[in-house]
Amino acid sequence: MDVNAVRKEFPILDQEINGHPLVYLDSSATAQKPLKVIEAVNEYYRFNNSNVHRGVHTLGSRATDQYEGAREKVRRFINAKSTAEVIFNRGTTTGINTIAYSYARNHLTEGDEIVLTQMEHHSNIIPWQQVAKATGASLKYIPLQSDGTATLEDVRNTVTENTKILAIAHVSNVLGTINPIKEMAKIAHDHGAVIVVDGAQGAPHTKVDVQDMDCDFYTFSGHKMCAPTGIGVLYGKRELLEKMEPFEFGGEMIDFVNLYDSTWKELPWKFEGGTPIIAGAIGLGAAIDFLNDVGIEAIEEHEHNLIGYAMERMNTVEDLTIYGPEKRAALVTFNLADVHSHDLSTVLDSEGVAIRAGHHCAQPLMKWLEVVATARASFYLYNNKEDVDRLVDGLLKAKEYFGDVF
Ligand SMILES: Cc1ncc(COP(=O)(O)O)c(C=O)c1O
Repeated sequence: MDVNAVRKEFPILDQEINGHPLVYLDSSATAQKPLKVIEAVNEYYRFNNSNVHRGVHTLGSRATDQYEGAREKVRRFINAKSTAEVIFNRGTTTGINTIAYSYARNHLTEGDEIVLTQMEHHSNIIPWQQVAKATGASLKYIPLQSDGTATLEDVRNTVTENTKILAIAHVSNVLGTINPIKEMAKIAHDHGAVIVVDGAQGAPHTKVDVQDMDCDFYTFSGHKMCAPTGIGVLYGKRELLEKMEPFEFGGEMIDFVNLYDSTWKELPWKFEGGTPIIAGAIGLGAAIDFLNDVGIEAIEEHEHNLIGYAMERMNTVEDLTIYGPEKRAALVTFNLADVHSHDLSTVLDSEGVAIRAGHHCAQPLMKWLEVVATARASFYLYNNKEDVDRLVDGLLKAKEYFGDVF
């Protein structure tokens, strides 16, 4: 992969922040957008803007073709069997809430268990807490090893015949832990449970094959994979989605409406109430084209090399505590002595380096790490070794600046 060529596709990177060339290390929060995506959205609004599935006019059919064309691109990207299994929505949070409302609340009862890990993002905790409160089901947590991994043995020891849902991140947004979804799905299925995969940090960075992993649900956000904000995907196995009631009711998702009752459209549209996120879906289609052009395996390899280099360099910085396992996705979470991550982030920003600071929507995990907050640098296909060097230089500057803490 030619990273310099890739970088040219991202106009936002070509600017100075506080007098320094921008180094963007916050892609786990949201990724930057390549020209191809910006232009696809621009072209849609300039030439094709129309509502979908309704108008019997040329713009309407162009918009519908592009919107449904994007669905087929997503289907291929994750290797779903059918576009009926690909539901467009606002993102991972909406995806998990849809499963919680439309599936879990109707399938779980007192005595049932929902199994999670402590590495989950709030989006994969709170909807399940609410399901537990509404149904009387209980929540159980797979313990974490000291490096922030969950072993298959611990999954086996936690999942029981009463478990109805195993909900787990493909990749942790804090620790970078990569969970073995295929093996975890098998354990869930052996106990008659379904597996819900939070793919927010998985789909942008690694080859996802929902059939090979045999996951029941997989949900992700377009904005973390170079697409616009506001678009996401919920994949579900057809037989499960068929049994689920819609989550939102209104236009677009109906077949017939009578005064006292109505019927729903077939999949996937019964889950897409209201005017959908048309430009977002078209942008997501363009983002998938872009990622495919670069090659998802090439991206994976590039990120693997980059995180290897980042760990090597960061390990040389004294007083830096790095969290998470050795084998990790392309992100690194850390603290510099007792410096609050917000202060650290401010110093790095003054050097043009954008990182994340705070609890990363993972307060239970912060508690487990025994910290109030951490800093996080996350990498994507447009980052290079110079970005890592600039991060390390910034950390050394911060050490000088906060000298009295050391
Ligand atoms: C692991 C994980 N899950 C869920 C989410 C929520 O994604 P969104 O805000 O796009 O719905 C995020 C976002 O940071 C995440 O990292």
